Amino acid sequence: MSAPEKTENAPNAFPGKFISVEGSEGVGKTTNLQFVQNYLKSRNIAFILTREPGGTPLAEELRNLLLTHREEPVSEDCELLLMFAARAQHLQQVIRPALSEGTWVLSDRFTDATYAYQGGGRSLSSEKIANLEKLVVASTKPDLTLLLDVPVEVGIDRAKGRGALDRFEQEQLDFFERVRRTYLLRAEQEPSRFRVIDAEQPLVEVQQQIQQALDLWFEQIQR
Ligand SMILES: Nc1ncnc2c1ncn2[C@@H]1O[C@H](COP(=O)(O)OP(=O)(O)OP(=O)(O)O)[C@@H](O)[C@H]1O
Ligand SMILES: [Mg+2]
Repeated sequence: MSAPEKTENAPNAFPGKFISVEGSEGVGKTTNLQFVQNYLKSRNIAFILTREPGGTPLAEELRNLLLTHREEPVSEDCELLLMFAARAQHLQQVIRPALSEGTWVLSDRFTDATYAYQGGGRSLSSEKIANLEKLVVASTKPDLTLLLDVPVEVGIDRAKGRGALDRFEQEQLDFFERVRRTYLLRAEQEPSRFRVIDAEQPLVEVQQQIQQALDLWFEQIQR
């Protein structure tokens, strides 16, 4: 995916909403995004599907820089700033224009991933990340975040089944334990935005949970 895809459904019955799908490696984000897309289509919602890091040609170039293995050690701050640089571009070129015209945004990861990976995983302070979030993201935060949760070993086994591992996927188990813990902590802190999905279950059952979460959320936003 190099550029966001747009569906033909329009106009929307609701103002633009922003949904992110989060979780550690191999939890099933990309797989289940297909299900969420079909769900939105069935409700006649016009949306774009996008991802982070990435979502614009420049941001996808930054993604490649971030994921590529390299001899030179990557400073944690450099990694953090590249993530937010990509996000700034993504927000300006794709997310804000879509939302402002009422098109929904469905993103494979967003700022929660920075708290989980650079904060939890790399142990950067959450204050530092929050400052950058304030600067770059401001109020353009997801309305709903589906957090797919699986035990770390299960996610890594699933990711390995897909082939070569990128610069993050080759980290050690304790890195991913911190990532998972940080995601779950954020979900606890913001229960109105997050829905935690037990993604260890077989795919049909995961999708039943997602369907139920979306049904309930739609009831809330339609009220
Ligand atoms: N509930 C499930 N049960 C078993 N296998 C699953 C399940 N969900 C996804 N998978 C498989 O796990 C693998 C990883 O799934 P997917 O690529 O969707 O994860 P991801 O969260 O997008 O990973 P990444 O963080 O690396 O992008 C795929 O081979 C997918 O078919
Ligand atoms: Mg994926």
